[in-house]
Amino acid sequence: MKLDFPKDFIFGCGISAFQTEMGASKEAFFDGTDWYKWSTNPQIIKKGLVSGDDPAESDGFWDLYKEDVSNAKQLGQTAFRTSIEWGRIFPEDTSSIEANITYNKYGEPLDIRLTEDSYAQMKKKSNLKVIEHYKDIFSYIKINGMKVFLTIYHWPLPEWLHDPVRCHFDLNSTDKKGWLSPKTIVEFGKYSDFVGRVFSDYVDSWETINEPDVIATEGYLFGNESGFPPGISDIKTTFKVERALSFAHNIAYKNLKRNTGKEVGFAIAPAYYMPGDDQPMTMEVLQRVRYLHNEWILNAAVLGQFDDDLDGTPEYIETNFAGTDYIGVDYYQRHILKYDEKSNYLGLIKVKFEKCTDCSDFGWDIYPEGIVEVSKWIHKKYGKPIYIFENGIADAGDNKRERYTLEHLKSLSRGIIEEGIPIRGYFHWSLIDNFEWASGYKMRFGLYEVDYNTKERRKRKSAELYEKICKGLEL
Ligand code: BGC
Repeated sequence: MKLDFPKDFIFGCGISAFQTEMGASKEAFFDGTDWYKWSTNPQIIKKGLVSGDDPAESDGFWDLYKEDVSNAKQLGQTAFRTSIEWGRIFPEDTSSIEANITYNKYGEPLDIRLTEDSYAQMKKKSNLKVIEHYKDIFSYIKINGMKVFLTIYHWPLPEWLHDPVRCHFDLNSTDKKGWLSPKTIVEFGKYSDFVGRVFSDYVDSWETINEPDVIATEGYLFGNESGFPPGISDIKTTFKVERALSFAHNIAYKNLKRNTGKEVGFAIAPAYYMPGDDQPMTMEVLQRVRYLHNEWILNAAVLGQFDDDLDGTPEYIETNFAGTDYIGVDYYQRHILKYDEKSNYLGLIKVKFEKCTDCSDFGWDIYPEGIVEVSKWIHKKYGKPIYIFENGIADAGDNKRERYTLEHLKSLSRGIIEEGIPIRGYFHWSLIDNFEWASGYKMRFGLYEVDYNTKERRKRKSAELYEKICKGLEL
């Protein structure tokens, strides 16, 4: 058996900076982010919000990138998705540097550009050694024949913008409020203009923000359980953050497009929601859940439609949004749900979720057809091409990863060939085991297993299957 994909279909893997960089040398250590402070804070660990694992003991990609890039090449990948750490590039506050900003009628920024003079000042404030090191990594990916897919923001904020511990205990005790502060959007605008200029020659495809939906919901809606900073649970705040991230995406989109002329987009992490019975009320609550978790953010970031009271109709439409060239889909799981009179999900919806039957180590429900269902819906509604930027499984024993990968790629092949969904590429998450945010090192997503003591990489059996798929070989 062979899987059928278009000739120019891209196969890759994904990693992110914070999850992989530290661990092999002193130079790689960097504690100037909100995620670092959060993950290592004794009070946050004591509350059980995070694992207590130290992100500084991770894979050591900063030093060992040649080995990982070579492994990716050996798998037959044609692209490599990674990210850069904002705080490493700008360890100090950049807010004193002026930029040209245009605002909408609510005082929200629509366009943020550096002048030549402010660009020069930004350069002075930046860590040039770090920039050179990132260039070395990108060059190495390119000389190994792979495209560079770069995310400029995969979750950690510089600590000078966000104090998640203070925000957690008392939001009003600090000015460093992360995405709840307009300052963060302005600084992100400048950062995006800057990195677009310095890395323009090295990057083939740009991603502004990885999963604004997850940043907002895990940090501000399910904050008490998820362990994501700042660990808040408030629905209004959640959608305020989604609104801020939509503006941030659009500003970064404009800068990266202007500076590089390459494709620019962002990714969300939609689950596939499936009815657990055929009651009309179940369909109704399903639409509502899907709207809040998958659709609200796309309406906002792609169409500029803001439904602040969450009633399904936008109160404000931002016509000066640029949108996106593609939509990244990070698909992991299905949720089966039913109408339930006694439930009160998010204080809004009478819905109950069923437990998974075929589960990952994380307890996420495995459902390969979902990858096509969500992509189909997203393409139909927003008319943009799609990349599967993440798909993979927490499976420490490597017992389910082969089947998971094969079945998802079979579905994807069918969706592309038979249904004509314009999906341009698939990036497995992840190339290597890595620091899995609040869960630390226990959850293992890698095609390569990593021994965190020796930093040794060991190819898992599932990687051999992925290699055959990437190379178009008989399975
Ligand atoms: C994130 C990754 C994470 C993966 C598995 C995605 O939402 O982008 O950073 O490791 O999920 O939890």
